[in-house]
Amino acid sequence: MSTNPMNTKPLRFFRRGEIVSLPAVDTNRTLLEVLREDLHSCGTKEGCGEGDCGACTVVVAEANGAELKYSAINSCIRLAHSIDGMALWTVEDLAPTLGAAASKLHPTQQAMVDCHGSQCGFCTPGFVMSLFGQYQSKTCKGQAISRADAQAALSGNLCRCTGYRPILDAAEAMQALPLQTVDEANVLSKLEQISDIRRGLEANFAYMLPVNLAELLANRAAHPDAQLVAGCTDVGLWVTKMHMQFAKVLDVTQVAELRRVEHYPQHIAIGAAVTLTDAFAALVTDRPQLAEFAHRFAGLPVRNSGTLGGNVANGSPIGDSMPLLIALGASVVLMRQSGRRIAHRELPLEDLYTGYRKNVMAADEVLAWIKVPKATEAEFSRVYKISKRFEDDISAVCLAVNVQIANGRVRSASIGAGGVAATPVRARKTEAALVGQPWTQDTIRQAMQTLRGEFTPISDMRATAGYRSTVLSNLLQRFWLESQGTVQTDVRSLDLDAAAQEMAV
Ligand SMILES: Cc1cc2nc3c(=O)[nH]c(=O)nc-3n(C[C@H](O)[C@H](O)[C@H](O)COP(=O)(O)OP(=O)(O)OC[C@H]3O[C@@H](n4cnc5c(N)ncnc54)[C@H](O)[C@@H]3O)c2cc1C
Ligand code: FES
Ligand code: FES
Repeated sequence: MSTNPMNTKPLRFFRRGEIVSLPAVDTNRTLLEVLREDLHSCGTKEGCGEGDCGACTVVVAEANGAELKYSAINSCIRLAHSIDGMALWTVEDLAPTLGAAASKLHPTQQAMVDCHGSQCGFCTPGFVMSLFGQYQSKTCKGQAISRADAQAALSGNLCRCTGYRPILDAAEAMQALPLQTVDEANVLSKLEQISDIRRGLEANFAYMLPVNLAELLANRAAHPDAQLVAGCTDVGLWVTKMHMQFAKVLDVTQVAELRRVEHYPQHIAIGAAVTLTDAFAALVTDRPQLAEFAHRFAGLPVRNSGTLGGNVANGSPIGDSMPLLIALGASVVLMRQSGRRIAHRELPLEDLYTGYRKNVMAADEVLAWIKVPKATEAEFSRVYKISKRFEDDISAVCLAVNVQIANGRVRSASIGAGGVAATPVRARKTEAALVGQPWTQDTIRQAMQTLRGEFTPISDMRATAGYRSTVLSNLLQRFWLESQGTVQTDVRSLDLDAAAQEMAV
């Protein structure tokens, strides 16, 4: 690939015991391209090129205090420069290549062999890397990996030959093999060296990777034309599928302030650059009923890269976190540099959007925080995602409801919906139909009528307009039943045949 020298920048990361320093990497290049084409590390495969299959999974790590924090990510949609200053492992890096141990496989690989976890093998490097991520995060820290943990860890990896049972067996079996650890002290000291090198370099505006909020806002003010990126799980597809190229990129993922989750008495403040994995962990700690919903957001490698801020800012009408956040009463904090001051404004999340993928953010503003009110004793809240596949699929319809009942009446109601309008929306008419009414089946029937007519969804490949309206209002009935403690609905047990007929267009 020919490169424009204006769009290149040095890239440094830790790999195989040392610092890899590439003097001029095109800033639009994906990590997978750098691995396969520049470094000739072809063990990492390309399947879909859009984050869906996991063949390209690699593991990155960053300093987290005195330890490393490991994440399995999709290299196909991640811009290479986003890993500047991190440690990287590909499937070639797990087994020793030199010395007496050269023929020894890593426990993740050995377990795959022992459990017959690979047939054609195309998916195998990705599976091994997802297992390695789990091995480093759990086994090496003395934590057991359950079958459910293994399923979650492999949720972004597709295998069409072997079947998942032997691979899940391998995930459990690798824990019993002799432990193989990473020399974390060496990695941490090399990462520190990279960060010293980076501090001494001149700014390069082709790919800006600020490390604090002041730097981010200054860059945003000076370069409002730069493409803002976070985990790149939406933007990466614009590069790989739509062949977009950016003259300047402003990456928010290393901004220390925006990577924090802060707990206050009344709310949780989630920095826009907090990964979906960590953001959902915080939300689930406060509302454990959200665990299944969190698991159903993409697969783990996408959640490890993608950020909550990216989901909200992208503003897709079928984005999953927004209906939930609307129902929970979340607000967003937007920030910009104003002269020598930092200016900010806060607004309800639903007021961020002005149209299909359009929002009120000015060219020099960034989304900085998402503030989510904490759960209260009196609330009853649920969120439902309806998609064609149970796992790793985008919503056709999403409904989130949060009510407070006092003395048998609805004291407050907030309802967020996805997949039924050009933006994520708040169902204000339906809320009005509920507030002040007795919490009964009759009230719900009325509210279902209102909800069914409140939006005018479109038909597309995911569902017909009729299906969306019907399912949306039926979900309110499900919410009512669950509030009565009579039904604990598992979507897999529902009779979806009738709905499925309407869903096909
Ligand atoms: C395989 C796959 C499965 C997926 N499944 C789901 C799913 O189940 N549910 C779902 O909702 N989404 C899903 N997505 C979409 C995507 O993962 C999410 O939208 C994700 O949260 C985007 O975050 P990001 O950090 O990757 O954003 P990026 O791709 O980096 O950016 C997305 C947009 O947000 C803007 N942006 C990012 N951060 C900021 C900021 N701080 N301030 C202002 N603007 C900002 C960017 O400029 C860009 O326009 C999936 C994607 C893939 C590839
Ligand atoms: S190649 Fe399919 S997820 Fe990257
Ligand atoms: S072994 Fe062939 S796709 Fe998994």
